[in-house]
Amino acid sequence: MSTQAHIITVGGKGGVGKTSVSAMLVKLLLASGTRLLLIDADPVISVAYTLGEEPSATLGDFRQSLIESPRRQRDLEARPVKDAIKELITVSSRGYDLLAMGRAEGKGCFCGVNELLRFGVESLCSDYDTVLVDCEAGIEQVNRRALHRIDELILVADTSRRAMESVAKVRDIAVSYNEGKPIELRLLVNRVRSDEDRSRAGDLAAALGLEVSAFVPDDSEVHDYNACGRTLLDLPEGNAALAALTGIIHETS
Ligand SMILES: Nc1ncnc2c1ncn2[C@@H]1O[C@H](COP(=O)(O)OP(=O)(O)OP(=O)(O)O)[C@@H](O)[C@H]1O
Ligand SMILES: [Mg+2]
Repeated sequence: MSTQAHIITVGGKGGVGKTSVSAMLVKLLLASGTRLLLIDADPVISVAYTLGEEPSATLGDFRQSLIESPRRQRDLEARPVKDAIKELITVSSRGYDLLAMGRAEGKGCFCGVNELLRFGVESLCSDYDTVLVDCEAGIEQVNRRALHRIDELILVADTSRRAMESVAKVRDIAVSYNEGKPIELRLLVNRVRSDEDRSRAGDLAAALGLEVSAFVPDDSEVHDYNACGRTLLDLPEGNAALAALTGIIHETS
């Protein structure tokens, strides 16, 4: 198959709700019937756990095994690297595939191995309609370790000035890494508590040259599900945070 997946990356400052938003987007994307690959790009694995999955293999561990064993590297030359990466996928019973990036590179330069793995991840993406990537703060790691191209960047900020200033920086980095290819940008303001929060965040975004695509409320169900380790896929359909994100999915498809 040689379709090109729509690659959506979720980025922003630490702790603003990227993983929670990613998990809710998974729920909405599954409802839209898309063939979905979810990439958990947080080295400590985050969205997978939020969705109740425990990946048994990571790209980071695979990379390490290649670096430590020239024989394994030679074995890999004998077959498509995509097939080897496919073996790292967790197939969720909820209807999507999951690839966990795991730990980042250790010391030293393993450019050859990294290039090979990135090539493998990129060719794997072509088996899907949509690839959603949940990042740790900043997105440089994702570009370096997994993907050269991003089609859509979902920037998540909370209502703080610092979070908003951070997303403006992440936007600039993403654009500079995207090798001249256009990126659709969407800004989500998360954990909004009041009309005042909303208008202040809107003004701040505008001053930074960003337009807000959705205001996501600070939601007690999202908080409680996360607190109890309950998967956000089971949020009720009428949940207010999910409702706020629905328009994003429609714009995406
Ligand atoms: N809309 C929301 N309503 C209520 N609580 C939320 C909402 N979004 C996120 N949270 C809470 O905020 C906290 C941080 O969320 P989350 O882990 O999704 O952030 P993150 O940006 O992925 O963090 P990190 O940078 O560590 O990856 C969690 O406790 C989560 O329950
Ligand atoms: Mg996270």
